[in-house]
Amino acid sequence: MNQLDLTGKTALVTGGNRGIGQEIALRLASLGAKVAICGRNEALLKETINEIKKTSPESFYQVVNIRSEQEQLNFFSNMKKHFKHLDICIPNAGEATLATASNTTLEDWNRDIETNLTGLFITSREALKIMMEQKSGNIIPIISKAGKVVFETRAAYCASKWGALGFTKAMALEAQKYNISVTAICPASVATDFQKGNPYGTDWMLNPSDVTDTVEYILSCSDQVKIEEILLETKYISKK
Ligand SMILES: NC(=O)c1ccc[n+]([C@@H]2O[C@H](COP(=O)([O-])OP(=O)(O)OC[C@H]3O[C@@H](n4cnc5c(N)ncnc54)[C@H](OP(=O)(O)O)[C@@H]3O)[C@@H](O)[C@H]2O)c1
Repeated sequence: MNQLDLTGKTALVTGGNRGIGQEIALRLASLGAKVAICGRNEALLKETINEIKKTSPESFYQVVNIRSEQEQLNFFSNMKKHFKHLDICIPNAGEATLATASNTTLEDWNRDIETNLTGLFITSREALKIMMEQKSGNIIPIISKAGKVVFETRAAYCASKWGALGFTKAMALEAQKYNISVTAICPASVATDFQKGNPYGTDWMLNPSDVTDTVEYILSCSDQVKIEEILLETKYISKK
């Protein structure tokens, strides 16, 4: 397969300052795209954008809490000023509460739903509106295996991710009429900060580069191809 060339393309990645989102943002930049990243931790955003700018000098970051519609609208507005168009959107930012149903507080519930479901909805909707005018684009939300199966100790997280996958699939139906591709990636466990403290360790998990390779594969498909979702499993083999 020829190397994907994203020269002249633009991308927006939420949660681009660490973990999976950072890896995706760095890869897209290295393939030639201008990239806009956001997150709440400005120090990490600065570190990441300095790396990104080595291959994509017109990239930029913005401090955004995706739970705020206004902050996301400002981010999109800046992105339009900088880039004029948007080819690739990766709604990725997310958080997870570790609690069973009976132990989930309303605060936990609201955080997971407002970040993983409402935040992803706002990001996707704003990208979709731009791409509908262009009649082109790719939206690749990073959902989770927890959007397809359930885990007893991640009750609110599962609810948010099942909702996010449902929204993504409904959006895909509207998007395809405008030549826009929407593909949900549903990874099993990935070795990032997200898994810190996992009692089984992280050496058997997927790496952020596995998710990034999947993004690259999706972007390399022709406009005619429709991939609704990709479930990325791990074989549970220890890398030690
Ligand atoms: N790691 C896994 O096992 C795994 C498996 C399947 C799916 N996923 C999904 O993959 C995505 C990325 O996870 P990860 O493993 O890379 O986790 P991570 O290393 O903890 O990174 C999470 C990212 O989301 C950002 N974020 C969280 N809440 C935010 C908010 N309210 N506003 C803006 N940014 C926010 C964080 O930035 P700030 O903290 O600076 O805001 C950070 O960049 C998530 O949606 C997660 O559910 C992860």
